[in-house]
Amino acid sequence: MSALDRRALLRSGVTLGAATVVPFAPRATAAEVLTLYNGQHAEPATAVVQAFMAATGVQVAIRKGGSAQLANQIIEEGAASPADVFFSEETAPVTTLAARKLLAPVAAETLRQIPAAYAANDGRWIGVTARCRVVAYDAKQVTPAELPSSVLDYATPAWKDRVAYVPTSGEFQSQALAIVKLRGREAAIAWLKGLKDNGRIYNGNVAAVQAVQRGEIATALVNSYYWYSVADEIGEENMRCQLHYLGAKDPGALVTLSAAGVLASSRKPELAQRFVAFMTGTAGQQAIVDAVAEYPVRPGVVSPYKLKPMDQLDPPDLTPDDVSDAAEALALQREAGLA
Ligand SMILES: [Fe+2]
Repeated sequence: MSALDRRALLRSGVTLGAATVVPFAPRATAAEVLTLYNGQHAEPATAVVQAFMAATGVQVAIRKGGSAQLANQIIEEGAASPADVFFSEETAPVTTLAARKLLAPVAAETLRQIPAAYAANDGRWIGVTARCRVVAYDAKQVTPAELPSSVLDYATPAWKDRVAYVPTSGEFQSQALAIVKLRGREAAIAWLKGLKDNGRIYNGNVAAVQAVQRGEIATALVNSYYWYSVADEIGEENMRCQLHYLGAKDPGALVTLSAAGVLASSRKPELAQRFVAFMTGTAGQQAIVDAVAEYPVRPGVVSPYKLKPMDQLDPPDLTPDDVSDAAEALALQREAGLA
């Protein structure tokens, strides 16, 4: 089954409500229903849940929301949280929960399934996919040669009204934190102010890519997989929007992770650990990367999408901890007048 067919099947069969039990599951006792708080995109989360249910017969109820919002909900719920597993679109929310000891250590054998660089230092969360920051551009308005080689240079008057950005996106916030680490705090605030003065805000990454595709704006600062999601809809051959990979360890070439953790308060810790092990195992990883053009973290798993190889991305040398301080990301945006 192609990735496209699989996605169509997922769309037809699944509606994710506030607390939807995904269909097609074999009957299970209440003790075997796992609750997943999902801040990742619906397609990869649903794909891995369905693969897990098919493999184990365990039912999984999904509650969806923004990753930061779900992390706050878990903090408010405390020990009474119904969540067993949290799947976050970025590392800041799991880092916040880990610091509060709301996540249990991920089982050692699960951590061994992936490179150590893709998991928390304290083992309380594990990376599930890797994602790359890129510049999406309208090939009818600009050529690759005209595109600046650093993401810092898009926040300038030379690009007035020609760059889209999504300040509410967790990955955008990670990119600002990357600039702090690589160029200093002043540079990060100047970059955000430059975008505020010269760029255009979009309320989502898909909307930003679609705007480039329509020719509404010349470039957009997004993650690479959004391009593939629009290309899936309209056909790769129809994409006037193209991707520019900055590489050269520029903050604009940042690679970030989606991540999962087991709730310390879970009353089904063994089952929760089993699900997280599945997410980073071969079958779970394959289901995820078939459903979204993110990179697998497990060696040997291959995306069906024609991704630029991970070993050619040349991202900056930063750890997830370097780009996961949600409070600092908010402070930067406030100081730049963006929040
Ligand atoms: Fe995303």
